[in-house]
Amino acid sequence: MPFLDHYQAVKQAHIGSVVASVALFVARGIGVQMRARWPMRAAVRWTSVAIDTLLISAGGLLWWMLSLNPVRERWLGAKLLLVVVYIVIGSLALKRAPTQRAKAFAFVASIVCVAVVAVIAITHGSMSLAVLLDRLR
Ligand code: HEM
Repeated sequence: MPFLDHYQAVKQAHIGSVVASVALFVARGIGVQMRARWPMRAAVRWTSVAIDTLLISAGGLLWWMLSLNPVRERWLGAKLLLVVVYIVIGSLALKRAPTQRAKAFAFVASIVCVAVVAVIAITHGSMSLAVLLDRLR
């Protein structure tokens, strides 16, 4: 199928936007912990929305290209659920948690959550270190 010719390019766009999104989130989370004002400035927030839109669009396109069913492909179902958890606790970490301590806790939890999402994506849910190292090689 011709659209599958673009699969690698879409996958690279997905992975590139994942790296940019997580890097910006970590930088903003550290900024919030240091009580800086720049992480919540409009330009930074809109940059984050733009990167996340690219991330989700490319992920959705891969999903469509591969005709995956998240109920049958349990790794994808688990990944999508954890992405929602990541969005919720990420927003607590940057803004919504009531105290600085709660923000710090949510920040660490969201980094753990997004790391699990990446491992699930790479190993397709087998969560095996051997599979992870093999896929990264
Ligand atoms: C923070 C969120 C996300 C992270 C960290 C993430 C990470 C990744 C990574 C690292 C890969 C490459 C796996 C490999 O090397 O084969 C990947 C592939 C993929 N992602 Fe995501 N992703 C995220 C969000 C999403 C979303 C929201 C969707 C769907 C709407 C999605 C759908 C996919 C699909 C279908 C693949 C292709 C899997 C394959 O080639 O076998 N991802 N993701």
